[in-house]
Parts: sequence; structure tokens; C-alpha cells
Amino acid sequence: MATERIISGESLDAAEEQFHHTLRPQRLDEYVGQPRLIEKLDITLKAVLQRGDPMEHVLLHGPPGLGKTTLSHIIANELKTHLTVTSGPAMTKPGDLVGVLTKLAARDVLFIDEIHRLSPVIEEYLYSAMEDFKIDVPIDSGMHAKVITLPLKPFTLIGATTRAGLLSGPMRSRFGITHNLEFYSTADLCQILHRSANLLGLGEPDEVALKSIGSRCRGTPRIANRLLRRVRDFSQVKAHGQITHDVVDRALRLEGVDELGLDDLDRKYLSIIGKVYEGGPVGLEAIAATLSEDSGTLEDMVEPYLLQVGFLARTRKGRQLTQRGAQHVGLDTMGTMSSR
Ligand SMILES: Nc1ncnc2c1ncn2[C@@H]1O[C@H](COP(=O)(O)OP(=O)(O)O)[C@@H](O)[C@H]1O
Ligand SMILES: [Mg+2]
Repeated sequence: MATERIISGESLDAAEEQFHHTLRPQRLDEYVGQPRLIEKLDITLKAVLQRGDPMEHVLLHGPPGLGKTTLSHIIANELKTHLTVTSGPAMTKPGDLVGVLTKLAARDVLFIDEIHRLSPVIEEYLYSAMEDFKIDVPIDSGMHAKVITLPLKPFTLIGATTRAGLLSGPMRSRFGITHNLEFYSTADLCQILHRSANLLGLGEPDEVALKSIGSRCRGTPRIANRLLRRVRDFSQVKAHGQITHDVVDRALRLEGVDELGLDDLDRKYLSIIGKVYEGGPVGLEAIAATLSEDSGTLEDMVEPYLLQVGFLARTRKGRQLTQRGAQHVGLDTMGTMSSR
């Protein structure tokens, strides 16, 4: 399954989530990277703390593992309020949302992950909650139908989504701050890995080794920390606890992760466009069918990084293999085996 890939930005299981949790920065000044967003939030947080107002609603979008949940914890910490975490799919009926909203204290932060998956009915309720801090709840139905208006405490909603395009216009317009999280630079990832290595008690880390992890983690902090964990285990068993460039290389080759952070599925995706579709352009559905993968999965979990590193181009006619992409899997752009 594509979702269990070691280079997936998603959390793999509850035990791993616990591991990431321990490495999560707690304060805004510990959050590495995303400088424009952090500066914006820093100013807003200081201003609302001075005034005692609730902070405006924040919408964060970007691929999984880039620090959206982390940031919502940090914002609640900085506001010295309580964070409530829920998600779009977890709320199946309006009552679920009403239950969550009415428990919020003044200036609390409500985090809704995968907010694009809220049902339209629930979304409708959320509008008045976000705008006027009140919610209209129907009681009874049929002839005796009545609506009561429940006042809410002023709160801050933080919505997170991997697919900003799927969010409705009215929903999007209700956020005061909207920000697209970017992939992290290798330098930022090294800084995150350094901090994690210290927290894990790995001693003073070898910078070259960290850089070699940082360049394989697809610009994603969650993957960086996961790879560090695999390297730590490998090193403990095979290399007397030493973490060097060579140890990183051996550990990650064993996991099928190449020097650019591509795994088997990425390489297969590129090869198929090359070999089966002569380099493209080809529609996503056709690639998905050939790979027996879900097209949404490919769009969310494979393509963003391949586009980012310039191995793939998206044209109006479909997906196209670039020369660099072809080269990486040993093909030329027409899909024949390269002579190299
Ligand atoms: N900017 C950052 N600085 C340091 N660590 C980070 C940062 N962003 C993410 N992380 C690490 O990556 C893990 C995954 O981040 P998370 O916030 O859960 O991502 P998302 O919610 O976007 O999927 C966190 O547990 C944390 O350890
Ligand atoms: Mg998250």
C-alpha cells in the first residue's frame, strides 16, 4: 500500500505518531523554516495577546508532514489557551460539531485536520460559528421544528488541508490568514535533524550524515525524523551506534530509498510514463490503472515531490516525464533504455 511507504509524509501508525510527538517543537521560535508564515504569525500573536482578542482563523495547506498540526499546537501554546483537535472525517453529524464548539473556552484554538472533508451540512454550521461566534441548532422536527441560537465563546479555528483546491469558496473566505506551507530546504531539515538527534540522545551528530538524511527526506520534516529513527536502529545493530554518511547510505538503501529520497513507487511511476507511454503526455488515470494505484493517492503522495524535483511536468494534455526524471530511472525521454 502506498500509504505505508517509508517516504510518506503521513504518519504510519500510533506508535510512530508518539515518536513524532516527542520531537515536536513547542514554541514558535523552535519552529524551523517557513519564515514568511512564522513572521506573520509572530506579529499576529503579539498583537492579539496585547489586545486580549481571539486570534483570527488560520488556514494551512500543504502536503502531509510539513508541520501543520505542530503549528496549531504551537499557536495554542503561545496564546496560553487550550487546543482541541478534530478532523473533517471525524465529524459525521452536526451534533458532533456542536458538541466540540460549545465546549470551547474563550480564545481556545480548535484544530480541524482535513477540513476539506467536512460534509457541506456541517460546513454550513461552521460558517456562523466562525463569523459570529454563534450556532443555530434545530430542535425537534416536523410541525414543532424550532431553532435555538447558542452563543459560543470567541475562538480561533485552524483548518488544515492537503488539498486547498477542494475547499469551498465560502469556507476559504472565512479565514483571516491563509498560508501554503512549502517543502523545507536541506539546510532547514539538517537543523530539524540536529535538534531531533539531540533529543534522542544520539550525541553530537555528524553533519555530513545529517545532510545525507536531509537530502533524502523529500523536503518533509516528518520523513526526516522517521529516516533518522531507521538510521538509529540500523546503526545500533550494525555499526556500533555510529551515524556516518556511509551508515546512512547503507541503512536507507536497505529501505529502498535512493539518494534523492525516491522509493520504488516513485521510480515505478516514472518508468511507466517512460516505457508504457513513451514519456507522455499521459492522463493520471491511465498511469494509475497501469500501476494499480488510486489516482488520488498518486496525486497526493507521489506527484508533488516529483514535480518539485523537476522529474515530472504537468501539462494540459497530461503528465510528462522530463529529461532529468527519465535519466534518474535510466531511460531517455522517449522511454527507451538510456545508453548510459
Ligand atoms: N517546522 C518544524 N520544525 C521542527 N520539526 C517539525 C517542523 N514541522 C514538522 N516537524 C516535525 O515533523 C512531524 C510532523 O509534523 P506535523 O505537524 O504532524 O505535520 P502535518 O500536520 O503537516 O502532517 C512533527 O511531529 C515534528 O516532529
Ligand atoms: Mg497533521
